Amino acid sequence: MISLGCMAKRALALVICLLVNGLYAAPAPGSAASFYVPNLPGLKQDSSHPLHIYAGHLPSVQPTASPTGNAQPNLYFMMHKARRVADRERVILWFNGGPGCSSFDGSMMEVGPWRVDGQGGLKLIPSGGWEEYATIIYIDQPVGTGFSYASTDQYVHDLGEAATQLIRFMRNFYDVFPELEFMDTWIAGESFAGQYIPYFADAFLKTTLIKTPLKGIAIGNGWIDGRTQYPAYYEFAKKNNMIKPESEARIKTELDRCTKYLNETATNIVNIGECDGIMNSINQGLIQSVNGKQVCLNVYDIRLVDDFPACGMNWPPDLSGVYDYLRRDDVINALHAQAKTEAWVECNGRVSQQLTLMNSPSSITLFPHILEQIPIMLFAGDQDFICNHVGQERMVEALNWNGAKGLGDAETYDWDVNGTYAGTWVTARNLTYVKIAQASHMVGFDVPIVAHDMILRFMGVDFHALSGGSASIPSSVGGVSKPGIIFDDSPVSTSPSSGGRNSQTDPNVWRSYYNSGTTALVFLLIVLGIVAIVYIARRRRRYGLLPKTSAYTDHVDLEERVPLSTNEDAEVSSRDLPNGAQKRLNGGAPTPPQQQTEPIFDLGEEEEDQETPRTSQH
Ligand SMILES: *[C@@H]1O[C@H](CO)[C@@H](O)[C@H](O)[C@H]1NC(C)=O
Ligand SMILES: *[C@@H]1O[C@H](CO)[C@@H](O)[C@H](O)[C@H]1NC(C)=O
Ligand SMILES: *[C@@H]1O[C@H](CO)[C@@H](O)[C@H](O)[C@H]1NC(C)=O
Repeated sequence: MISLGCMAKRALALVICLLVNGLYAAPAPGSAASFYVPNLPGLKQDSSHPLHIYAGHLPSVQPTASPTGNAQPNLYFMMHKARRVADRERVILWFNGGPGCSSFDGSMMEVGPWRVDGQGGLKLIPSGGWEEYATIIYIDQPVGTGFSYASTDQYVHDLGEAATQLIRFMRNFYDVFPELEFMDTWIAGESFAGQYIPYFADAFLKTTLIKTPLKGIAIGNGWIDGRTQYPAYYEFAKKNNMIKPESEARIKTELDRCTKYLNETATNIVNIGECDGIMNSINQGLIQSVNGKQVCLNVYDIRLVDDFPACGMNWPPDLSGVYDYLRRDDVINALHAQAKTEAWVECNGRVSQQLTLMNSPSSITLFPHILEQIPIMLFAGDQDFICNHVGQERMVEALNWNGAKGLGDAETYDWDVNGTYAGTWVTARNLTYVKIAQASHMVGFDVPIVAHDMILRFMGVDFHALSGGSASIPSSVGGVSKPGIIFDDSPVSTSPSSGGRNSQTDPNVWRSYYNSGTTALVFLLIVLGIVAIVYIARRRRRYGLLPKTSAYTDHVDLEERVPLSTNEDAEVSSRDLPNGAQKRLNGGAPTPPQQQTEPIFDLGEEEEDQETPRTSQH
């Protein structure tokens, strides 16, 4: 006989068992829950302000009824949900360049919320992560890049093909995360993504497969237009005293060869072989022997040197830590990246070789049409050589859009962030050009707070309603302080200044902390809230104490420099280079052991002079 008490115990056990099973059951494949990343190895979350991460693979082709043995192309994404909502919800898609370089460059070294900590783990940065006010989706594409995959005969050859695959991927993505399809969306990235992004924008604006309201695109140190950017290597190098008298003649010969070719043809191809020699000959002239070792210019940051023949490919120093991290099994599992069978590499050389671009005119040809519909922001770290700011400026000067050529009379304003000169800012007819002071090819790596201020301005985030976090970092363009933000070349209007906002008195602060989480999360928070209230009430009764509120504290270091170690993949591909330069860097001997980059000495003096006077320029 079973006693009544025993039956009750069994029933209770059954209920507990069901609950536990329910909690630990694997989420349905393909559901949003199946992409959720509850924990990342080595990342200590800020419990008062946790990151919500989703990651995994989704196909970038229409699913076939009868799948073949081949792996169908799958792109990889990692999404960080917005930690706060400003005046409205926003989404950013981020792409690194290469071609073939993974967007983990962006998330782990530039615009993301964490950096490697030098001890195998990660550390949050206190401010500057772009996920503060926008849900950001880092995408590895074209297929084969980063954690994305396809059988090698399915690699992408043209930019239009890459765009078609991205749109298909986005359709599949929105089927999993339907609420994101209707949020204001920006596409951003850098370097060779200067080719991808306009193609993607064009496809977003034309397709009926997705309904995304695309609001603008932002390209940092982009490779966009060879016709203007190749000759600019000479001008930039001249300006920065990078041309030694003994190599001048050779460089001039290369420049003439390039301009002659450009004069005689109307080519719009992305990589112009006749023009490769300009940068190569400049770099060659800068190779020198230091303590018996050959060093050369870091093409991504002219303030630095690197070992020959890497010349920047070992940089930035965080890279070796990123490699170590993304090759850990526990990390790969946590990030739902197991389906990629090869180890993660920063830049996949095969992807880049397959992207022959035979049918892809340079993305500059798409600019006029895009600018009729949405704003474009070009930004450039002023210390980059490979996609330097002079090239961006010559490109804009030569471009005809929205009824005129170049920036015309638009005024260039000085831009300050947190009391420091950050660069210059100019906007004309939907095109914004931002030159960033003391920043390399990877702007977010050098100046994350500045890069964040820039994207918030470009997205038109309304700071009137915000306080705390980056809203408390002052910034101004043309002397007009945030939140009074200038977006166009129209007369400067003075807006009321924010004054000293106080998180205690400003009701909007609560709105800004509201996270666009799922219903489940909101529900969970409500439950936790009730539990907390009950707990606090009890504590108060017992101890007569009020609990301390935990503020959004800045408790981690922003800057870090990881010592470099040997990176056997450096020769696989270079980052973000026009093809010619890539061949130069990859063709010869394998990359030597990495070396901490150090300030270059022979470029120093005059360069400093050029940096101090902040004359605005067009
Ligand atoms: C190319 O054309 C420009 C402008 O017409 C001219 O100034 C320049 O000398 C030409 N360069 C060469 C190498 O033909
Ligand atoms: C600039 O972009 C907006 C959309 O933000 C568009 O409505 C407008 O027509 C564009 N302006 C010009 C001058 O084409
Ligand atoms: C802003 O500047 C102040 C004063 O120089 C400095 O203490 C603070 O750390 C800076 N804030 C950020 C987020 O960089």
